[in-house]
Amino acid sequence: MSPVQRPVAPAAREEEHTLETTLRPQRLSDDEYINQEKVKANLRILIDAAKGRNEALEHVAIYGPPGVGKTSLATVIAHELGVPIRVTSGPAMERAGDLAAILTNLEPGSILFVDEVHRLPRIVEEVLYPAMEDFHLDIVLGKGPGARTLRLPVPRFTLVGATTRIGRLSSPLRDRFGATYRLDLFTPESLELVVKRSARILGVSIEPTAATEIARRSRGTPRIANRWLKRVRDYAQVKHDGVITLAVAKEALRSLEVDEVGLDAVDRMLLSAIVEKFSGGPVGLETLAAAVSEDTETIEDVYEPYLLQEGYLQRTPRGRIATERAYRHLGITPPQRATLWDDAPPA
Ligand SMILES: Nc1ncnc2c1ncn2[C@@H]1O[C@H](COP(=O)(O)OP(=O)(O)O)[C@@H](O)[C@H]1O
Ligand SMILES: [Mg+2]
Repeated sequence: MSPVQRPVAPAAREEEHTLETTLRPQRLSDDEYINQEKVKANLRILIDAAKGRNEALEHVAIYGPPGVGKTSLATVIAHELGVPIRVTSGPAMERAGDLAAILTNLEPGSILFVDEVHRLPRIVEEVLYPAMEDFHLDIVLGKGPGARTLRLPVPRFTLVGATTRIGRLSSPLRDRFGATYRLDLFTPESLELVVKRSARILGVSIEPTAATEIARRSRGTPRIANRWLKRVRDYAQVKHDGVITLAVAKEALRSLEVDEVGLDAVDRMLLSAIVEKFSGGPVGLETLAAAVSEDTETIEDVYEPYLLQEGYLQRTPRGRIATERAYRHLGITPPQRATLWDDAPPA
């Protein structure tokens, strides 16, 4: 399992994969690719300009937390351009030859989508630079003083790189992207549109208030909204008559251990570890990760963005702190203000 994916059981994973393919937006239009208005407006210009000049699109980097639409956006770009998309990922390319094989086999104008682009091995990255810049590969033949470099042309292509960690990209790689887009967590209102769209595609009948409820409890993340919609649909079908009413949605979400504000068991475990084991913090990321048996990257990429955004957690130079809001959510009386750093983080 990739550390940046939210943990789910293997069977559920497979099902989720099918679900994602069915629900994945194909177009840049507002009813397909919901939210991210600025990104869409920008991208529209980039795409139209490239089409007008009949050129390959500039290389594009997309970053943001898991499940907010990075892979979907890459698919949308390919569809809008009417070009094939080849999908791979940073960790899947181990040797320079892996990348060379992909590049030399691309149809001209294609999108090469590299997920987790911050995890490309150095040696692969070095092969990528000249390919991105002027569409050739430098292949080194032989070793030592007799070594020669062979220059091999590759078809024009557009690299679309996705990452949860833009800061982890090396600067030479970052510099080679013509455009960089940040995807943020969704507001409950935009998530509601995602839920309604998905329900329409899946042929599920759902009351508007139930869609609002699911959206509100999905941690700002379309992937999670779709996951809950699916689970709630199953629940409605098995325990009720299939219609998702507000009462059914609430009941189903409770059975899934999603609480009133959308935090799940791991979110709550993280917060209560800070509160109970580390007196509210500050606690270092490594220590916290060990206490809840998660890796640091998963905590930073998957759990923290929402907890930070909603003000349950604060990041300070000395570590993570549980806010007053976290205490209240856990039903624990917060300690005196003097030991809480809700407003001013400690120096
Ligand atoms: N802007 C969006 N509009 C509609 N649905 C979306 C949007 N972004 C994501 N989704 C839904 O969420 C799912 C996960 O998105 P994905 O692109 O795989 O996220 P990421 O690559 O950032 O992890 C998609 O299958 C899609 O159904
Ligand atoms: Mg993805």
